[in-house]
Amino acid sequence: MRAGVYRFLDCELDLPQRQLRRAGGVVQVEPLILDLLAFLVVERDRVVSRQEILAAVWKGHPVGSSAVNACMSRARRAIGDRRGRSGAIRTFSGVGYRLIAEVQAGASGGGARAPLLGREVELARLDAIRDAVRAGSGRTVLIAAAAGIGKTRLARQLADDCEASGFEVLWGHCDAMPDLPFFWPWTQILQAAARTRSTSALAALARGCEDELARVSPSLRERLRAGVSPDASLTDESRLRVFEATTTCLLRAAAQRPLALVIDDLQWSDPASILLLCSLQRAIAGARVLLVGLLCTRSLPERAATAGVAALLHHPDVVALHLDPLPGPQIERLLRAECPSLTPAIVDTIAALAGGNPQVAVELGRATQGAAAAASVALVAPDDLPIPDRLATAALTELAALSADSRSLVEAAAIFARPFSIGALAHLTGRLPADACAAVEEAVERGVLVASAAATTFAFRSDLTRECTRRALNPLRRQRLLSAARAPARGAR
Ligand SMILES: Nc1ncnc2c1ncn2[C@@H]1O[C@H](COP(=O)(O)OP(=O)(O)OP(=O)(O)O)[C@@H](O)[C@H]1O
Ligand SMILES: [Mg+2]
Repeated sequence: MRAGVYRFLDCELDLPQRQLRRAGGVVQVEPLILDLLAFLVVERDRVVSRQEILAAVWKGHPVGSSAVNACMSRARRAIGDRRGRSGAIRTFSGVGYRLIAEVQAGASGGGARAPLLGREVELARLDAIRDAVRAGSGRTVLIAAAAGIGKTRLARQLADDCEASGFEVLWGHCDAMPDLPFFWPWTQILQAAARTRSTSALAALARGCEDELARVSPSLRERLRAGVSPDASLTDESRLRVFEATTTCLLRAAAQRPLALVIDDLQWSDPASILLLCSLQRAIAGARVLLVGLLCTRSLPERAATAGVAALLHHPDVVALHLDPLPGPQIERLLRAECPSLTPAIVDTIAALAGGNPQVAVELGRATQGAAAAASVALVAPDDLPIPDRLATAALTELAALSADSRSLVEAAAIFARPFSIGALAHLTGRLPADACAAVEEAVERGVLVASAAATTFAFRSDLTRECTRRALNPLRRQRLLSAARAPARGAR
């Protein structure tokens, strides 16, 4: 087990990868919950107080006790801990909390990150951008791509490369948790800058901006000995002053040493943080600042707050990096490294289902390894491949965008193992070719199906979606469809 990886219950908390896994599958948790679990795991030898949790997780921000309670419940749910039963996170009434489950920690030393596969083109482009920034030409890069495709992994590589070439690297994470203080990712960035500086160096960086910085961060207030307190209800004008103060500090830091700022999960950002991102993008033109934003494109249209990011993506001075799926051989390499007990046939099947998404591949691989171990068998047949609920739910939501009629026909098409024609779908479902054609057209428009070059045959864009749809078919309907598929087409006799 690598350093920074902790096992308890059936969980694996992987701090270098910022990932929680359970029974092999990745549990989707907000960054704040990960921070909370990380704190409880690292401090597992003692009871930690609410104040300590507030300081470590919320960096001392004045959040209500209901926020701590809500986070604690989510953390418990995430690790499968039922209060009063397994009681892995125990509440010590009036004192605090402690993780009492037995924890196995990864060996210290080493802790190397698994190597980055592929992404040569993107890295070459980022290398050139880094060189330009070092020479004093600030740049903004947005890495926008599908969930799990490797945005954070690529940014970590970029951060390592930046550090190796003398940059200071500061990270901020946006979060889907409610009740977060405004400006959250930037506060994390400012606090990270403060952590590595002596009191006098910090004072020089913040000169003239002390009160503004103190308004967004209690720990900065303490270190800067500022007179004002953090304030959740800032007026527009005082927000502007906070923006200016943050920009001033960051530009001062960049004058000392090139600076890379990485903001992850921008799709969850609050509007104020996006405004600052946009204004900083303009302010860094002549400074040694590399501003990197990561965002999951899937969640974008759902949140009005991210409209500013969408605009930034199309800004002529912003480099928008889109990440394609990883090629099959790289996914296979990743699977062989992460799940060494899988057979070559299973690796092939998983790679096909994952469609180039490393997170999906590793999740399927780990679930398969787990299923084989639980059944004490060495092999799992490709047809019995376990698909974690999270992945199945996400795959099936793709169909939710379709009209009822189109969805019904597309569901039926899931029994075709190969690309199908409109005629074959009409025959399978007993519908007129014109109906099948309209349903397929809609599904192609929505990106659920893709057409061959000549648009004579169609297939699911994602094999995982096809497989999950096939498995979700009512067994009677599946049987009926299989019989219809075997029956000769009318007029063929
Ligand atoms: N190029 C790669 N080489 C090796 N492993 C990779 C690569 N890309 C991603 N991974 C692995 O795949 C998993 C998902 O990657 P990552 O967390 O970077 O995705 P993401 O796009 O940031 O996901 P999310 O949308 O959930 O934030 C991680 O375990 C990561 O280490
Ligand atoms: Mg990520």
